[in-house]
Amino acid sequence: MGIDLSTTFTGLRFPNPFLLASAPPTESENNIMRAFDAGWGGVVTKTIGMHPVANVAGPRTRFTRYDPATGTLSMNNRTGPLHSSWNWELISDKPLDDWIPRIERIKRAFPDHRLIASVMAGSGSDTELDHWRVLARACQDAGADGLELNLSCPHMDRADMGSNIGKNEGLCSFVTQVVKEVARVPVWAKLTPATSDIALEAGAVFRGGADSVSSSNTFPSLPIIDAETLEFEINVDGLVSIGGLGGPAILPLSLAKMAQMTSAFPDRSFSGIGGISEFAHALNYFLLGCGTVQVCTAAMLDKAIGPNVIRKLLAGYREFLDRRADRGWRTLDDFRGLLRDRVVVHSKIRRPDQADYRGGYEPGEGYAGSGAD
Ligand SMILES: Cc1cc2nc3c(=O)[nH]c(=O)nc-3n(C[C@H](O)[C@H](O)[C@H](O)COP(=O)(O)O)c2cc1C
Repeated sequence: MGIDLSTTFTGLRFPNPFLLASAPPTESENNIMRAFDAGWGGVVTKTIGMHPVANVAGPRTRFTRYDPATGTLSMNNRTGPLHSSWNWELISDKPLDDWIPRIERIKRAFPDHRLIASVMAGSGSDTELDHWRVLARACQDAGADGLELNLSCPHMDRADMGSNIGKNEGLCSFVTQVVKEVARVPVWAKLTPATSDIALEAGAVFRGGADSVSSSNTFPSLPIIDAETLEFEINVDGLVSIGGLGGPAILPLSLAKMAQMTSAFPDRSFSGIGGISEFAHALNYFLLGCGTVQVCTAAMLDKAIGPNVIRKLLAGYREFLDRRADRGWRTLDDFRGLLRDRVVVHSKIRRPDQADYRGGYEPGEGYAGSGAD
């Protein structure tokens, strides 16, 4: 039997496991249609909300590149190898009423491609909680195949929204439950990487009924300061706020977050995001247990929706399965999670002289077990 690139994730069949993440590549009907034509297996729409959105008076995203000759990192370098994206863009500035007919048209044109609607509201009042219900019902009625709850937007000053929900286990769980009560389609929760043990928030959204966790959103970060002008390389009137880092720089960071969750919840579904531009990157997430992956920065830099990125991802995946035919691997399920159990606590790593090592604790000290004894 031949190889099969399709996959079933949270009960939805995807032509392939490569999705465009919620971001500028999925902010318009035209982009999403182009993305499906180009071969992406699914898209997560740019996050849709209920409040008017006004972005900063300047660029929302810039890209930091490395100069191998000098070792410098700069957003003013337009040609060197990519280090990261940096953004402080808010959610979609199109209101829900604009999105609904667009989702309907996209689904009519591409019934077999999966469209997940990313939605976001607050959590501090009944009105805000009702916004989640309104968004969820409207998107699923328009034909969205699933919902992704944005519990991770890093740019919200409101204490009851975005990553401020994602940092609070109680709110994560409650908001998920509110959406699950009205959802007829799978609900994915996109968590923030800006917490110390993301497995806690993952546990919270699963308790609320989430079908899957997506991670990572961008990591909190500042743009670099220009050594000549002494200004942040991206600023408005000299001011900057903490924004989000994406792209190659976050791949290992995001993998660590993912490993924390997949080892805590080996039987749950996860969608991996962060630093993916080719199959070898995506493979990391699959081997840790993810059933789909999502791409943003690499697609933004490739004709806005990543036609070359998806072509390379699919070619790399085909070639990988062809090479593993001797092991009988045909589908993602044949190797998904293969390395999940290889991420262990430090004291489980072998010492050269086989010495007993208890994570720095001595027996009888009264501490909780380190897992080594
Ligand atoms: C300009 C920009 C806008 C984004 N907007 C959203 C958004 O509206 N909703 C969301 O959940 N994530 C948003 N993200 C985060 C991405 O979906 C993704 O999680 C992150 O960029 C990491 O993936 P990458 O390394 O492939 O860029 C945005 C990222 C960028 C760069």
